[in-house]
Amino acid sequence: MQSTMDKKLDDFRWKVAGKELVPLVIGGMGVNISTTELALEAARLGGVGHISDAMMPAVTDDVHGTHFVEEKAREHRGSRKGADKSGVRFQVAQVAEATRMYVRETMARKKGPGLVFLNCMEKLTMANPKETLQTRLKAALDAGIDGITLSAGLHLASFALMADHPRFRQALLGIIVSSARALKLFLKRAARVNRAPDYVVVEGPLAGGHLGFGLDWKKFDLKSIFEEVRQYLKKEGLSIPVIPAGGIFTGTDAVEYMEAGAGAVQVATRFTVTRESGLPEDVKQRYFEAEEEDIEVNMLSPTGYPMRMLKHCPAVSRRVRPACEAYGYLLDGTGRCSYLEAYYQAAQNGGADQLRQVQKVCLCTHMRRYQCWTCGHYTYRLKETTRRNPDGTYQILSAEHVFKDYRFSTGHEIALP
Ligand SMILES: Cc1cc2nc3c(=O)[nH]c(=O)nc-3n(C[C@H](O)[C@H](O)[C@H](O)COP(=O)(O)O)c2cc1C
Repeated sequence: MQSTMDKKLDDFRWKVAGKELVPLVIGGMGVNISTTELALEAARLGGVGHISDAMMPAVTDDVHGTHFVEEKAREHRGSRKGADKSGVRFQVAQVAEATRMYVRETMARKKGPGLVFLNCMEKLTMANPKETLQTRLKAALDAGIDGITLSAGLHLASFALMADHPRFRQALLGIIVSSARALKLFLKRAARVNRAPDYVVVEGPLAGGHLGFGLDWKKFDLKSIFEEVRQYLKKEGLSIPVIPAGGIFTGTDAVEYMEAGAGAVQVATRFTVTRESGLPEDVKQRYFEAEEEDIEVNMLSPTGYPMRMLKHCPAVSRRVRPACEAYGYLLDGTGRCSYLEAYYQAAQNGGADQLRQVQKVCLCTHMRRYQCWTCGHYTYRLKETTRRNPDGTYQILSAEHVFKDYRFSTGHEIALP
């Protein structure tokens, strides 16, 4: 009998939507780190790629030359200098237009047997949580997205928000959870619209981006949570594919989960340093250079969730004036954001020194400028996955290379370019 070390991910398939996919999903990475190009490569190679809908109007401006950010900033310029942002709103028609444009253009370019999903963060409350979320979800369905992965947030109402859309029962819908408890709550609410998710991503504590754990994340491990979720679904008689994510670094790591009953695996960190990743080239080099002690989990995100990042990134040390008129993705329904409040409090109390003490960052501005270097725990191992150029820099990889390495490698080996 073949041992786990001799098997490869390609020995398994994820049977979904009438297809037999390579069971490799590239997770969503906002803001536009998981680009259209990266998602399209995953689909071309027979797996699943994600685009992210985080700050979609801003991303659409960058990619398609629209002017959504400028128009919004102009409309609200009156509140630029003060802390009161209660009047700052998104025009939902513009959010819909940006989303449709971005998703439609992506889907029009899709080739190959795989799928492209959208990663949707509920925690981006956009000054009007319910209406903007509904707009984002429905616009993506309008534009023909293959599936939507609900992330960062509880998403208890998200299915109901799109239940009357003609594609609600046709598109694939999944959710990211970090515990069986969160899944249980979600399934209870989803039952009201008579719709179970088509897949459940179980994200463990080693993932990049926001974490579904507290600062005690070290006490948890993906294998146990994955098993807990699988047992829970079994007990409920539900055969929903479970997709583990967070720290799956080699093809053999993936095989171990497939043998333990995973439907597919979700990965991200290894694709941050590919040509197709949206990170600027110099930032990709910082990811390669990172050592384990350079990676921290902190509470700087105004979402209230812990976030993993490289501690030398500009976002950690810089406190910029909130740009809610242009962005405002973290404003709640009453125009509040914890960074906004901390910033104006500090500014009132005496300027630069006080500002340096602010324990939050302006996620909108820093994410848009790629200054918040969020990353997975194993970023420090990326240097093992490539070669060095004569000038000391690391060779950037192609997404195809990394995808194929996950798909075909055995014995925890990593193929160099
Ligand atoms: C740079 C980066 C950005 C991320 N951004 C998001 C995001 O916007 N939304 C989300 O649900 N997950 C996000 N994630 C999590 C990934 O989608 C994925 O589930 C996880 O990182 C997989 O673990 P791995 O990076 O160890 O392979 C991000 C991960 C990375 C590395």
